[in-house]
Amino acid sequence: MPLIAPSMLSADFLKLGEEIDMINNSEADWFHLDVMDGRFVPNISYGMPIIAQIKKRATKTCDVHLMIEDPERYLEDFKKAGADYLTVHYETGYHIHRTLTSIRALGMKAGLAINPHTPVEMVQDIIHEIDLLLVMSINPGFGGQKFLPLTYDKIHKAKALITAAGASTLIEIDGGVTLENAADIIAAGADVLVAGNTVFGAADPTDMIKRLKQVGK
Ligand code: DX5
Ligand code: ZN
Repeated sequence: MPLIAPSMLSADFLKLGEEIDMINNSEADWFHLDVMDGRFVPNISYGMPIIAQIKKRATKTCDVHLMIEDPERYLEDFKKAGADYLTVHYETGYHIHRTLTSIRALGMKAGLAINPHTPVEMVQDIIHEIDLLLVMSINPGFGGQKFLPLTYDKIHKAKALITAAGASTLIEIDGGVTLENAADIIAAGADVLVAGNTVFGAADPTDMIKRLKQVGK
């Protein structure tokens, strides 16, 4: 069964408390929290104060996805805000190994995200430092985009690489996940599905989470 991580980017921020309670009371596993700086991606979302507020009310794992330049400047701040998983982008760093090590040293799980153009093989030598490999299935920056089919091949490769290394890294897929493609994504080897629009755009988000959770069972 996949882990389901609704992306709060698509939530109604005027009703944030209710949206959090909905996730708390659903079959969802994680809160996926997207931080964007208007530099690494062409959009700006929210930062530490909002994550700290969400953390106060959330009863599930907080999975923070940093789409920001120089993420190593803020690792401690996101730990303080309540991140359980902290994911940085491969494309943002000269010293990713050091950043991943620092994330773990601060007591968080270390995540590494790769954009659609970044080959999975780039993470091979540091796979044991990665708790969560986030394979972007869209170009990051916005919710509601269409899933890129090239992602399937990347999931297969990521799974093979992790298995060959004997690592326990989880594979997370982010962008354009729907009820229609979820089964194929899981069959390819994904462990965690992020879903923004699919969950928050549904007439019954709780039921949508339940249905996503059932996929591939
Ligand atoms: C986009 C974010 C995603 C986004 C996914 O850059 O990383 O987490 O919220 O939204 P959907 O599921 O609508 O594609
Ligand atoms: Zn994300």
